[in-house]
Amino acid sequence: MKVISTVSELTHFLETCLGSQTLGFVPTMGALHPGHLSLVQKALLQNDLVLCSIFVNPTQFNNSEDLEKYPNRIQEDLSALEEAGCHAVFTPSKSEIYPKNFTPKKYDFGLLEKVMEGENRPGHFDGVAAVVSRLFDLVKPEKAYFGEKDFQQLTIIKSLVQQDCLNLELVACPILREPDGLAMSSRNLLLLPEDRTAAARIYSRLLHVKTLASKRSVAEIKKWVNQTFEDDPDLTLEYFEVVNTVDLQPSGKGSDHKKHVACIACFAGSIRLIDNLFIEIN
Ligand code: PAF
Repeated sequence: MKVISTVSELTHFLETCLGSQTLGFVPTMGALHPGHLSLVQKALLQNDLVLCSIFVNPTQFNNSEDLEKYPNRIQEDLSALEEAGCHAVFTPSKSEIYPKNFTPKKYDFGLLEKVMEGENRPGHFDGVAAVVSRLFDLVKPEKAYFGEKDFQQLTIIKSLVQQDCLNLELVACPILREPDGLAMSSRNLLLLPEDRTAAARIYSRLLHVKTLASKRSVAEIKKWVNQTFEDDPDLTLEYFEVVNTVDLQPSGKGSDHKKHVACIACFAGSIRLIDNLFIEIN
């Protein structure tokens, strides 16, 4: 596996090794888990060459403490990618991604960025858009792979691809879960043992939401979720929303949309976790 750390090496690699082969791209912030590796595996099935990037993007952290404690396990990540059969990995420094004279493109994501993560993490999606557009510009892949755990991020990146008229296919990959249901996330490494136990209740609540959705209104479901978190001393709810999968606006009676997703963000101890589940509403 080729390890590339500068933009000039990346350009050289793409010019000399790619030829007419198709390129699949898996952008990550490292601390890789089986969920990330499932994106790499899918990319390997669908492309001739697969490039993964590892870059902890400072501009998408609205909280400096969160950035400082973000896990860094570069050696383990490189071994896992090598073992998975990934062809190349791009591990740029901050100055390679954001050189002095670089001005990130500005996007307007409209209502997509006004809800949930956008509302609770000001500036987060500006940072995501800045790094993703820069990486797409450098790598120019045919296909790029993103996990559905960050469902709002995926929707924002779809909009970015449309706004930039990119000839690029986004491949959405399902959430991978631990045996007790907790969605795999790099942040799980930071959970204290008692918080890790509590964190499994996020998914069990989402599963219950799915069963409630056929017989209760969205307002009743939200009330149930709020109450369950209020009764749980170990998990603090930041938001719970049921939104349609197209424009992420609240689902409810009279919605024209057919597909809906229940999205949650909460704290287990000091660690912020997000999860979601596709549901049908009556
Ligand atoms: O989902 C992530 O890991 C990050 O937000 C991404 C897409 C790699 C951009 O930094």
